[in-house]
Amino acid sequence: MAQRKRIAVFASGSGSNFEAVATAAAGDADSPYEVALLVCDKPGARAIERAERLGVPVLAVRPKQYDSREAYEADVVRELRERGIDFVVLAGYMRLITATLLDAFPNRILNIHPSLLPAFPGLHAVEQALAYGAKVAGVTVHYVDGGMDSGAIIAQEAIPVRSDDTPETLFPRVQAIEHRLYPAVVRAFAENRIRLDGRRVTIEGGLRFD
Ligand code: GAR
Repeated sequence: MAQRKRIAVFASGSGSNFEAVATAAAGDADSPYEVALLVCDKPGARAIERAERLGVPVLAVRPKQYDSREAYEADVVRELRERGIDFVVLAGYMRLITATLLDAFPNRILNIHPSLLPAFPGLHAVEQALAYGAKVAGVTVHYVDGGMDSGAIIAQEAIPVRSDDTPETLFPRVQAIEHRLYPAVVRAFAENRIRLDGRRVTIEGGLRFD
């Protein structure tokens, strides 16, 4: 088997997507990737507990201790290089990325967002969709560029919004999709099956959910 790709997952909060991506690899002897690092910018975040339980090394970062976002990211990039990281997976990492990180991993940073982009970018996407009166909600996995949730779309999945939905009822259904979709996309990416042509993305052989 080819060498497993080493990925770093960045998370700021609960870390349920981090856990889904990590356990999908840990439970599969033929996984094309392994989660080699959790980068977390929030002390005490639940993502850190999950990483400790799963035996994934943690890099706890303190962006506010730096003079600039670039200086912070330069340090993170150095750590990623030292640890032989091949690509980066953002999973609830609530910061905009600068050119420092983007240029170090060109077209090798993915993000997941809880809406059907380009609708409802930014914070509280599920609440935004409900407030707008949208009839479908969903999940988008996309490449990261310099904008807010604006990179080329790799995969999307929609679900109906029910007339009595609240954020508390809709968000768990959105997250259930995330936890299935993100590992499948990360796997396809690690297998070099994702092609980017302008904003158009194709996945050779499609996504595999097993
Ligand atoms: C996820 O729903 C993810 O899509 C969202 O944050 C949540 C993190 O949950 N990301 C964004 O809103 C990015 N704009 P998790 O920490 O349990 O994985």
